[in-house]
Amino acid sequence: MSGSEEQNKANQEKFHEEMKKTVEKAKNMTPEELKMKYKGIVYPSLLCSEATFKALELFEAREDDVLIITYPKCGTNWSIQILHQMLFELHNKEPTIAHAMLEFGKPEKYEDLKQKPSPRLIASHISYENTPKSFFEKKTKILVILRNPKDAAVSYYHFTNNNPVLPTYSSWDLFFKDFISGDVMYGSYFDYMLGWEKQIDDGNILILTFEDMKADLCVEMRKICDFYGINLTDEQLQKVEEKSTFKSMKEKSSDTHGNLANAFFRKGEIGDWKSLFTEEQSKEVDANFEKYLAGTRIGEKINYSKYCTF
Ligand code: A3P
Repeated sequence: MSGSEEQNKANQEKFHEEMKKTVEKAKNMTPEELKMKYKGIVYPSLLCSEATFKALELFEAREDDVLIITYPKCGTNWSIQILHQMLFELHNKEPTIAHAMLEFGKPEKYEDLKQKPSPRLIASHISYENTPKSFFEKKTKILVILRNPKDAAVSYYHFTNNNPVLPTYSSWDLFFKDFISGDVMYGSYFDYMLGWEKQIDDGNILILTFEDMKADLCVEMRKICDFYGINLTDEQLQKVEEKSTFKSMKEKSSDTHGNLANAFFRKGEIGDWKSLFTEEQSKEVDANFEKYLAGTRIGEKINYSKYCTF
């Protein structure tokens, strides 16, 4: 194993250890205690803190950072895996991976990241408004992965109920109410999307969707390669693809995600929302989509009528 591989593995193990302790703590906490608020948005209190958010504002981005942005449950781990494998193939060594989300953990992690070699692979669920300004100043290339709101909501419901660090809901209907009102971690799906719409004019952003990745991962991977200037042969891309299927990621998930493996790798399908949504709930999301995202470029990319019609 190379030095950087060992380092990534050690970081991963440390992260699992920390997660185990965090899960233990969570067992004695009420759903309200599991939430914290920063600038009006709800976050997981065991993973985020005001001190870290403050330190994050001063985060020093680099032009060659690879920044992945997702609303929760929209394909974060999938896209991290793809970029990880691409950078590995390109440089023939492990890239620096900022474990877990950029906004998780202690403020000192940013000091640690300062010492790490480029390219740094960084993922975050942060809103456009709370993204450190230096990413925009440095013109860091940002990959945003979208997923239709109905599948994102259903995935989120199962995740929150299978992850002890997040509040448990006694029913889908109760979760749905909070999803619509934005009283879930990272706030309203619709506000989040509207935020990233603002970045489109500035460039340095590639927006892909979970659904297009499911339809033809190779085509979407080529877009990522073009965007980041990652030159890979067909064989290399094929290797990346093989390691990024749902099946292969799920098989490795107890190594990569420990006790939370099943929570993170559930079904990996399009359209599972039909298993939980009532007609009325479906119409409520339709109305919100119409109100916030119809006519926007982000809205168009989501391809709502194709993926969100009963
Ligand atoms: P489901 O709950 O619908 O199965 P995130 O990584 O942002 O938390 O998103 C998790 C969702 O992405 C889960 O959706 C998970 O199963 C799905 N997912 C993870 N890896 C995937 C892959 N390689 N292919 C397709 N879906 C994947």
